[in-house]
Amino acid sequence: MSSVQISPSILSADFSRLAEEVNAVPSADWIHVDVMDNHFVPNLTLGLPVVESLVKASPRPLDCHLMIQDPDRWAPGYAEAGAGSVTFHVEAAHAPIRLARAIRTAGARAGMALKPATPVEPYEDMLAELDMILLMTVEPGFGGQKFLDVVLPKIRRTRQLINRHGGAVWLQIDGGVSAETIERCAEAGADVFVAGSAVYSAEDPDAAVGKLRAQAAAAASRVA
Ligand code: DX5
Ligand code: ZN
Repeated sequence: MSSVQISPSILSADFSRLAEEVNAVPSADWIHVDVMDNHFVPNLTLGLPVVESLVKASPRPLDCHLMIQDPDRWAPGYAEAGAGSVTFHVEAAHAPIRLARAIRTAGARAGMALKPATPVEPYEDMLAELDMILLMTVEPGFGGQKFLDVVLPKIRRTRQLINRHGGAVWLQIDGGVSAETIERCAEAGADVFVAGSAVYSAEDPDAAVGKLRAQAAAAASRVA
């Protein structure tokens, strides 16, 4: 079985029909939920009450990506609400180690996200505290942006760091992931792929998930 995982982002879904939209991608591994507070990023989406409802409506576990200020205060609540994975931005966290531990204690996988220009090297010693690193390949805030190739070397370096530490941490890529870009990401060492517009703009979203998965798995096996 391939280790590739696909996490469709509902940011590109129809917000008036979220329950139907999460059920439109039954072959996905996760449902990626972008929480934005209009402070950490210049956009506003949804928060804890909607996540509490989606936990019940979704056939797949929720992968919550918190693009918010003060995640130290808010992130553990998403884990308590039943999200399977909770990712905070390191640029916004006051005490990232304490926060990662709080997320795990509340029962979720702990993820840490880095914006495109944030270096990964200072966080090498934190890997044992994390279940996933999310590398943004667009500036966070909006779906449908162009993939930033400039992040590819950081994906490779992060894969090397993770492998040096036993390889247990997942490496997620978010932003501009599509049929055009997913192979480059997989070859560089990513194993969890967020795709918003590439999935929800497709005529058959679940078929789009399957195609992205096959492309990523083929690319990953070429470099294995
Ligand atoms: C952007 C969000 C992404 C977004 C990706 O800040 O974190 O999850 O939905 O959308 P696409 O795949 O369209 O770039
Ligand atoms: Zn996201």
